Amino acid sequence: MSELRRDIPCLSTGPNRTLAEYLAKNSPTFVRLEAVRKKGWDNPEGDRYWQNRREQSDKATDDSALAFYDMTKQIAEEMQAKTSALTPGDLGTQPFQVLDLCMAPGGFTWGTLEYNPDAIAYGITLPPEIGGYKNWFTLSAEYVKYMDITMLASEFGIGTIPTSHPDHSLFLAERPFVDQRFQLIFCGGAVLRSHERSEHRREFERTRLTTSQLILAMQRIIPGGTMAVLLRRPDAWDVVHLLHQFNSFASIQLFKPYKKHAVRSTFYLVAKNVQPEAENANAALEEWKKSWSRATFGGDEGTGEKDPEMDVEAVKKVLGEFGPKLIELAIPVWKIQASALERQDFTKTRNDGRKKQPYWPKKRG
Ligand SMILES: C[S@@+](CC[C@H](N)C(=O)[O-])C[C@H]1O[C@@H](n2cnc3c(N)ncnc32)[C@H](O)[C@@H]1O
Repeated sequence: MSELRRDIPCLSTGPNRTLAEYLAKNSPTFVRLEAVRKKGWDNPEGDRYWQNRREQSDKATDDSALAFYDMTKQIAEEMQAKTSALTPGDLGTQPFQVLDLCMAPGGFTWGTLEYNPDAIAYGITLPPEIGGYKNWFTLSAEYVKYMDITMLASEFGIGTIPTSHPDHSLFLAERPFVDQRFQLIFCGGAVLRSHERSEHRREFERTRLTTSQLILAMQRIIPGGTMAVLLRRPDAWDVVHLLHQFNSFASIQLFKPYKKHAVRSTFYLVAKNVQPEAENANAALEEWKKSWSRATFGGDEGTGEKDPEMDVEAVKKVLGEFGPKLIELAIPVWKIQASALERQDFTKTRNDGRKKQPYWPKKRG
């Protein structure tokens, strides 16, 4: 299935439908992106394109891993050039500490230390033995923990694991770096196909990984600190809801690298001046804990279920307050993806594989 289609929020349901209608009415850039995304759906050339990309990224040679590390370094440089996220400034008496969640291969840690040579870097990342990426930026053992961050049950407020859960023995009571506070925290995790995990961990794994990083980060960030969070689709309701939450206790920007992963819907939320003690931040933290718990233990099988949908009137209220700012923030992200997709051959062909007229017909001389 095309990655573009896999990314599509279910439009038959309330919040995403209301959101799509709002964006279609208010943003020509969103309309342009939707049009080019649709050209890629169910298009055999598009499917082949995404299949090739998956095969390339699954070929874990040292050369390709090193190239990926270089790419993450370039993303860190571009993020710094566009947002200054990697230099959050002096926030009090403690030395500058950075925590890189889902750290490997280590581009963000590399970048932070380039711009702040005296900073102290810590990281958590998936062990390579169970399919995590190799860390190319080595930190000594006390600064980096190799663990599956989604299994830190005590960190997420769960003391007793149901004995019936198939992964009962894999949950962790450890709370890594619990006594430390950080000026800068990266939440750059992406669910990997190579991660060896139980069969039931499919549908809700992305929610589990995002909420795990957010809970841990929120419980470690210094007031006034910066968080950079990898997300996808600023036009999916769950993401809009998250941006709206952050907007109430931080100063937010969106960043998408101009060239790297341009065809994908991924982008980074850069949240500066995060106030973890604010009432709205506490409410968000409690919501993320519930969401992790539901995605992990919910449903008839006790191995995960979806969050309940927000009522459409509440969605409209959020869009009334936050919609214009959302569009302003998202336009650069949408533009980069739309332009990158328009350059792909598969958006220039018919679904039967034949070439279409050029998307932007040339003017006759
Ligand atoms: C896109 S890479 C991150 C790149 C990194 N931020 C950098 O600057 O180089 C995604 C990372 O998420 C990690 N990851 C995925 N699932 C994880 C999990 N459950 N626990 C910890 N790390 C995880 C992967 O091993 C990989 O290192």
